[in-house]
Amino acid sequence: MPDRPAAAAAATIDPARVAGLIERERAAYAARHPASQRAFAAAGTNLLGGVPMTWMRMWPGGFPLYLAGADGARLTDIDGHSYVDFCLGDTGAMAGHSPAPVRAAVARQYGELGGATTMLPTQDAAWVAAELARRFGPTHWSFTLTATDANRWAIRLARQLTGRPKVLVFSYCYHGSVDEAFIVAGPDGPRPRAGNVGAPVDPRQTTRVAEFNDLPGLERELAAGDVAVVLMEPALTNIGIVLPEPGYLDAVRELTRRGGSLLIIDETHTFSAGPGGCTRAWGLDPDIVTIGKSIAGGIPAGAYGLSAALADQILNDETADLVDVGGVGGTLAGNALSVAAMRATLEQVLTEAAFETMIARAGRYTAGVRDVIETRGLPWNIVQLGARAEYRFCPQPPRTGGESEAAADPRLDEYLHLYTVNRGVLLTPFHNMALMSPATTDADVNAHTRIFAAAADELLT
Ligand SMILES: Cc1ncc(COP(=O)(O)O)c(C=O)c1O
Repeated sequence: MPDRPAAAAAATIDPARVAGLIERERAAYAARHPASQRAFAAAGTNLLGGVPMTWMRMWPGGFPLYLAGADGARLTDIDGHSYVDFCLGDTGAMAGHSPAPVRAAVARQYGELGGATTMLPTQDAAWVAAELARRFGPTHWSFTLTATDANRWAIRLARQLTGRPKVLVFSYCYHGSVDEAFIVAGPDGPRPRAGNVGAPVDPRQTTRVAEFNDLPGLERELAAGDVAVVLMEPALTNIGIVLPEPGYLDAVRELTRRGGSLLIIDETHTFSAGPGGCTRAWGLDPDIVTIGKSIAGGIPAGAYGLSAALADQILNDETADLVDVGGVGGTLAGNALSVAAMRATLEQVLTEAAFETMIARAGRYTAGVRDVIETRGLPWNIVQLGARAEYRFCPQPPRTGGESEAAADPRLDEYLHLYTVNRGVLLTPFHNMALMSPATTDADVNAHTRIFAAAADELLT
């Protein structure tokens, strides 16, 4: 289990100074990116919110950069600027952009052999399933197009398998647009997460919620005996990185087993911890593993894996329609193109050796950021999880999602994201997260450290 980093001493940041710096950086951003700004303005006529997918409005500066192309750990915008990309498509491109083996596999399947979607299996699929089993443990795998769908279908299977109605998630988790997961814990009890769009039902009807690292809270919620499945990331990664305390995950496993609930470990982001994610790195033993985003080198693909016993049970359940309209599966899931891309990614790109390099680079990044935080006395911290690292605006790493949410500072986020993007470094817009790909270099990391130090110095001048 990783150690928690030490806290920094406190320096104060003047909000008026932050506001002035944001104004300056916004002006610089607009001046540097006229072509992106024009493209965004023109797209508003027919694209909802002016973007292909509404999250793309999240970038700082009032409009997103328009992509010209990307290769490895770098991307270029249509104004001709090149960036070191630590966002990596918010993990979708953890393998780097268009790595050569995936390019070749996609060209072969789509171009030479032909056929992306046929409703017929290809032989790559069994190879990928065996590799996922080797890496993560569960023996029986099925494919989806997204991590969201992997979680949705795994939840359905868990309900069917246990005959229980409810899901349990952790406050401020994110598992994709899974209806059941938009619930948070609060002083007055659970409540729907703010901004939950068109919820089918109040999530309190479907879901129980506990704070991460709070075992008595989890035990209380499981006591009613109605939880089919606990859906969790082994470390929260969507509200900063919240690491499990020593022994916590073992106790979660013990409590779920004792209470008759299944356990899904969602490795979509925590795959950064190593070739088999946290599941392998920390010796976890979930009933189901879900994963998506990066496993096909940027081509849409997700997967869920079940233990042999659960696979056997569900396949022999005559009331479960797995082959037609039972609510599990999708027309394009497991398609030949995704599966070929998964094979190339797992076989040749996100290898054991690649993880060693990526994790070392993230260590360098973390040390650089921590040094800036400590030497400036900033009341911030940084947490590393394998190939990813994230800083948060509180002196100690938070131990729950609720604590981490309370440390959010959208103004500092905006300033740091604008400052770095204006100087050729792209961070993830939803977090202060940096992810290393196999193509990320020490020089890329050093560039970020220099820029981050300069941004901190300007804040404190
Ligand atoms: C842990 C986790 N699971 C699932 C998802 C859903 O991924 P997708 O949006 O690709 O379906 C995300 C997305 O950020 C995630 O962070």
